[in-house]
Amino acid sequence: MKPYVLVNTAMSLDGKISTSLRRQTRISSEWDRRRVDFLRASCDAIMVGIGTVLSDNPSLTVKSEELRRKRRDEGKEENPLRVIVDSSLRIPKNAEVLHKGEGKRLIFSTFRAPEERIKELQNFAEVVLVGEERVNLKEAMKELHKREVKRILVEGGGTLIFSLLKEGLVDEICVYIKNIVIGGERAPTLVDGEGFIENFPEFHLSSLLTDENGVLLRWKRR
Ligand SMILES: NC(=O)c1ccc[n+]([C@@H]2O[C@H](COP(=O)([O-])OP(=O)(O)OC[C@H]3O[C@@H](n4cnc5c(N)ncnc54)[C@H](OP(=O)(O)O)[C@@H]3O)[C@@H](O)[C@H]2O)c1
Repeated sequence: MKPYVLVNTAMSLDGKISTSLRRQTRISSEWDRRRVDFLRASCDAIMVGIGTVLSDNPSLTVKSEELRRKRRDEGKEENPLRVIVDSSLRIPKNAEVLHKGEGKRLIFSTFRAPEERIKELQNFAEVVLVGEERVNLKEAMKELHKREVKRILVEGGGTLIFSLLKEGLVDEICVYIKNIVIGGERAPTLVDGEGFIENFPEFHLSSLLTDENGVLLRWKRR
């Protein structure tokens, strides 16, 4: 058993989710940012890879006071469980995601994570070891399911998204495509990693919306 896995990102019309500098880049529109906030508030957990934490230092909090209040009224914490995938615990102990906003954190790591880093990070997050070299994402999803996570939002980056697709764990992909070109062969894309050369994962288009700056596509697994 696993949670429903929803990937959400914003990209340029040429498929880039950041520039070749690999730093946080505002790609979405104001409308899309509000939609993502709503999506965050409606999920039980939000997951990112350590690459995204190191590049963007996101807090992954629900920004709207009204949505946080609604979660509280429903007996939930203000923010969904924040989940980081980090094989060797490279996460800095002052990372925003470990400190900003109320709510629990969970770091999935591996048996090669240094003991002293595990102890240090346990002050801020639950650390769960699944996998030898890299985080075993199937096991991670089972662990999340045990913790009552029914719906998880994956916010990147491209390396983590590729692995989730490869493991057949992605149920839905939501992508906001903005009317800009970023380019650059080293700029990250929605799906990086090794890529597929056959058995391409297939999705069907479930909805298409537009605003003045772009298109929002929702794809569901076939
Ligand atoms: N536009 C958007 O919506 C958006 C959203 C998020 C990120 N981004 C951009 O994406 C870039 C970061 O993406 P990224 O691809 O470098 O990093 P990432 O996907 O966030 O994290 C990848 C890292 O996770 C760790 N990991 C552990 N187990 C894994 C597994 N089973 N499969 C895959 N990864 C595993 C690996 O590092 P270890 O081996 O050290 O654990 C791996 O290098 C940044 O430039 C950021 O700005 C854009």
